[in-house]
Amino acid sequence: MKLQFILNGQEVTAEVSPLDRLLDVLRECLGYTGTKEGCGEGECGACSVLLDGRLVNACLVPALQVRGADVLTIEGLSGEDDELQSAFVEEGAVQCGFCIPGMVLAARALLSVNPHPTRREIKHALAGNLCRCTGYERIFRAVERAASQGYGDKISAQNSRQDKDRKSLFALQGSEPSWVFVPKKLDEALEILSEHHDVKLLSGCTDFYPDLKKGKNEPEKVMDIWGLSDICGIRMQGGYIEIGSGTTFSDIASCETVKKYLPALADLSTMIGATAIQNRATIGGNIVNASAAADSPPLLLVYGATAVLQSKNGIREVPIAELFGGYRKTVLKPGEMLASIKIPLPSPGAHQFFYKRGSRLALTISRLSVAGLIELEGDVVSNVRIATGSMSPVPMFLTRTERYLKGKRLTGEVIETAAAIASDEVSPRTSRDYRKRVTGRLVSRFLKEARS
Ligand code: FES
Ligand code: FES
Repeated sequence: MKLQFILNGQEVTAEVSPLDRLLDVLRECLGYTGTKEGCGEGECGACSVLLDGRLVNACLVPALQVRGADVLTIEGLSGEDDELQSAFVEEGAVQCGFCIPGMVLAARALLSVNPHPTRREIKHALAGNLCRCTGYERIFRAVERAASQGYGDKISAQNSRQDKDRKSLFALQGSEPSWVFVPKKLDEALEILSEHHDVKLLSGCTDFYPDLKKGKNEPEKVMDIWGLSDICGIRMQGGYIEIGSGTTFSDIASCETVKKYLPALADLSTMIGATAIQNRATIGGNIVNASAAADSPPLLLVYGATAVLQSKNGIREVPIAELFGGYRKTVLKPGEMLASIKIPLPSPGAHQFFYKRGSRLALTISRLSVAGLIELEGDVVSNVRIATGSMSPVPMFLTRTERYLKGKRLTGEVIETAAAIASDEVSPRTSRDYRKRVTGRLVSRFLKEARS
């Protein structure tokens, strides 16, 4: 396939296979070796680049999705008097340098939207970029130095100019092989799906490449639904909020409606891996991959959400509680895809929460997660739902804990007993003691916060 896109401000063309990773296109086809490969599965940030202004891991982006896009790599910052790189040098932040291109790009992405970040915001933005030399303090200082010199203010202005200049190049599409489908509308996608039940849907690809790396076979047919406008976006309608399945967690986290009515979902969206993952991972992908460790299903369970499944023949709505048929299985039929998720608005006084525990802040995989929603009348529990993830093949409600809590006053003793029941109720197969103990602790924390 002939791939045309803008690399560091210049139009480039490369002959690639649609599933080649952007990382390989840059390094192998075009000789841009400043972008490094570390883990190859979205966890180290060495391959960070900006794709249409957003930080992404180039090891997780198929060439197919780069058509007509604007890519910025570290080479795009060289040759000019780049104050951000100078700040890294002046602060002595560069040791072996392997992580630095990714760090610089992550810092640039941050400063372009938040020109004067706090130390905490810098840490958060760079959490997906690992430095093996552990030079983090100097790296953070370098970002602060560049910010204090007004770097972010200058690049925000440059970005808007680039957007205007490159619009005409979006027309450059086509030449995909016959096993690749690129629908422009949902109807077209459903038509393709009705004829090709074995087609693999590609969206943010944050699980797709790690799965290939683990030995999964490449699919014989793929359909690119990344950015398909019919399934992207968030709207409030009647008594619920509907989120398109192609909506990224970054977009969910920054949506004011979500922050107001579904604050636990907004929190969750900032915990799905690091920024580069949140910019690519979609809520639909997180659900239909049906991973036991997926974060959103337990929370969607407690919200009482519904999956809107669409096929060429129509729409059916399935409660999230009935969507999973077992480990890595959903009840989607051939020809169906998840179009959106409908979440009923929680009652105004309801408390909601989502907590997860993993090996590090920016790591995608949860070792355990707990979600809950509780309504109180005074200090008496009138309604409560609690669900856990990562400890069973499908997310599960803690029904015994819920039954115990209903109608009770939230005293210290009741909270303690509920935590003990929750701890007893989960049955993780590995790290049993740790996961049971932490589940109890998180349930206790949730109930105490709801009471206060
Ligand atoms: Fe580690 Fe891409 S190589 S995130
Ligand atoms: Fe060596 Fe970061 S400077 S890995």
